[in-house]
Amino acid sequence: MLSYLHGFHAGNFADMHKHAALWLVLNHLRKKNKPFCVIDSHAGSGWYDLGSAQAAKTGEWKGGYALAKAASSSSDVPEMLKQYLDHVAAFDPTAKGRDYGVREGDEVDYTGPFYPGSPFIVREMLREEDELILMELHPREYDALYHRVKRDGRIHLHKRDGYEGLVAMMPPAIRRGLVLMDPSYDVKQDYQKAINATQRARERWPTGTFMLWYPILEDGFDAEMRNAFGAIKASGGVLAAEISCDQGGAKGRMRGAGLLVINPPWQFDQQLGEIGNWLAKTCKLPGPGKHTIKWLVAAE
Ligand SMILES: C[S@@+](CC[C@H](N)C(=O)[O-])C[C@H]1O[C@@H](n2cnc3c(N)ncnc32)[C@H](O)[C@@H]1O
Repeated sequence: MLSYLHGFHAGNFADMHKHAALWLVLNHLRKKNKPFCVIDSHAGSGWYDLGSAQAAKTGEWKGGYALAKAASSSSDVPEMLKQYLDHVAAFDPTAKGRDYGVREGDEVDYTGPFYPGSPFIVREMLREEDELILMELHPREYDALYHRVKRDGRIHLHKRDGYEGLVAMMPPAIRRGLVLMDPSYDVKQDYQKAINATQRARERWPTGTFMLWYPILEDGFDAEMRNAFGAIKASGGVLAAEISCDQGGAKGRMRGAGLLVINPPWQFDQQLGEIGNWLAKTCKLPGPGKHTIKWLVAAE
């Protein structure tokens, strides 16, 4: 059952945290003069109009991107986060000369501001020799994404189950890179599927960096995820980074979000620690925000 649409949530505090972490890994990958690949197993539709009815319905982006952007000229913003926020502010798929899938005759009235999802955060950082592999199952999200990336030869989009597809693609032809797994957790089985797929993919690609996003709700699944990842013997270590608050939101609402990262790049913990602390005090969570980073498995 696919009921989740990211357009309702794009740019919320959890997206800020996840996408800033993605930005850090991409910047690290770009440092070397060797190609990299990114596999985004749950891609969404690629980019989002924050002026849309969907975004207005929840208003979540106002407690995330809008607050972070408004505070981005203060002197204590971590440099890499500032770069990321500037990058988002400059993102406009309707700008002349950009081939981001805005078609003549589109019936949608885009208003902006716009927010790039993971596929377009990565796309903007790809060099000629790099590659992006996307998977998305929701028919409408897939269709939108298809038009948005179809002319870019560096991007390969599959209408395929992201858990099964990821394992089948391992190891990728380009052996430097990142797997981002960002499921919608529509059903509880997704937690176990995400754990299993990551474990199996990692066995076939032990040097890859893996980043799995998870929500923190009152159901305790976040602890299960941390326990499972704490048993992964990765030479580059495994860490959990969480932005959260102690009190729960309304029933079923997130009180936080986390990232499990296998083989994080050098100094990632320090950089994301600074960024997470800043986001936790700047963004709106259901209660006073905090950020924690914990190594579940130490790097060798
Ligand atoms: C949280 S959204 C992705 C957001 C995106 N990664 C970003 O950061 O912009 C999760 C997406 O996964 C898709 N999805 C759900 N189950 C899937 C599956 N088994 N395989 C591939 N995509 C799936 C949903 O349709 C949804 O678009």
